[in-house]
Amino acid sequence: MEKAIIKAAQDFIEKAKNKSVKIISHNDTDGITSAAIMAKTLQRLDIPFSIIILKQLEKEEIYKLPENEVLLFLDLGSSSLQDITKLKTDVFVIDHHEIPGEIPLNITLINPHKFKEEDISGAGLTYLFAKTINLENKDLANLAVLGMVGDMLDREIGKLNNTILNDAELIIKKGLLLYPATRPINKTLEYSSIYIPGVTGNSRGAINLLKESGIEKTNGTYKSLLELTSEETSKLLTNIIVKRMKQENSDLIGNIYLIKFFNKLEDARELSARINACSRLGHTDTALLLCLGDKESLAKSEKIYADYKQHIISALNHVTIADKTEGKNYVIINAKNEIKDTIIGTIASILSTSPNYEPGFIIIAMAYSGDKIKVSARISGRNGRNLRELIQASLFKIPSECGGHQQAAGCLIPREKEKEFIEALKKQLEVELVKI
Ligand code: C5P
Ligand code: C5P
Ligand code: ZN
Repeated sequence: MEKAIIKAAQDFIEKAKNKSVKIISHNDTDGITSAAIMAKTLQRLDIPFSIIILKQLEKEEIYKLPENEVLLFLDLGSSSLQDITKLKTDVFVIDHHEIPGEIPLNITLINPHKFKEEDISGAGLTYLFAKTINLENKDLANLAVLGMVGDMLDREIGKLNNTILNDAELIIKKGLLLYPATRPINKTLEYSSIYIPGVTGNSRGAINLLKESGIEKTNGTYKSLLELTSEETSKLLTNIIVKRMKQENSDLIGNIYLIKFFNKLEDARELSARINACSRLGHTDTALLLCLGDKESLAKSEKIYADYKQHIISALNHVTIADKTEGKNYVIINAKNEIKDTIIGTIASILSTSPNYEPGFIIIAMAYSGDKIKVSARISGRNGRNLRELIQASLFKIPSECGGHQQAAGCLIPREKEKEFIEALKKQLEVELVKI
């Protein structure tokens, strides 16, 4: 893939010399950091550019794109190549989602699936591309690390991800993967993205867990995860494992990445969550500017992030009363208007870490999105059915934008297809049960 990146970078510079560039990117942390890396790269080259951030790439959006600019798709595009190919301009796609069809000849695609490479984030790919353009862009490696942890691609670090980590300015510590590791632990537990029954979303539960683990306040506040003694950490870990019962716990321990950000050492997972929060709540400009080091956005993002955490907690509470279709190995949650379309994916991700679900259990969450329905699919554990294929098969004749990976997939369907889709999905999920 490295050779393809070098060739793509040369072509890109050649084409962009006389035209402006339109960056089209995704609205999660990986997409935002990808766009920020490219924005900085183009700024340094003095090439004019503009950025569009999208929830997902819909057909209508593709056909609206200008044909007098170089188009650069980041962290999306692979599932829409058959539409993108019709655009009569120079097109570059840097993405890591699965490629469902043939790759058209008029598109330059950098995608690890094409080269059978390790899974690497959109921001990681964009960083490698930027570094090929100019070594000076090595200072953007930290943004690539944020994209990597945002997409949870730090579990199996291969050669390419290792290059990025080596280029970045960071400190790596092994520990409990609850974030932020740098702030008082009671809040870290209450807002944990790994589901701990009775603790996640429950401030009193979090404090009780700390008591049980022999961790008390010092000088009026709790210590941070990084400040705990090894004895405290192991007691806390044991108690968390007990609460999570039979659930796979290997994801609880791993690398904590500490990055210098506005002159403070911050947990990369926390920064990534903060960028995601801004973007998901519609403040994509704040998210982007934050990545580019804008001070004003730092304060703004703090407020938005606090608001976002409340959104997540109330959405998780709503799930208990939402309309559900349950099977032995799956649940379809239809939140309708009660959960925002932009956070339904995060809710599905958090639920997929719940100990109530056996490995391989599939969570499908749905939320209304204007006259459409946003669907997010996640799997408990790491193995099981390919979710992108499952969703695609369920869509059959329903018009939809659909895409993703083995472990996380999504689509957008017309509202009037709600019942039809749920029925088709149920059939697909039951078929899988018979096969097992
Ligand atoms: O790739 P995309 O950014 O759009 O994916 C976002 C979601 O997909 C995240 O919730 C991430 O955890 C999940 N994901 C995953 N495994 C992968 C790739 C993405 O769980 N290999
Ligand atoms: O939106 P959600 O987080 O559920 O998406 C899960 C994965 O599927 C992400 O990697 C996302 O980029 C991908 N996806 C896609 N096309 C869609 C919806 C989701 O490629 N229309
Ligand atoms: Zn991504």
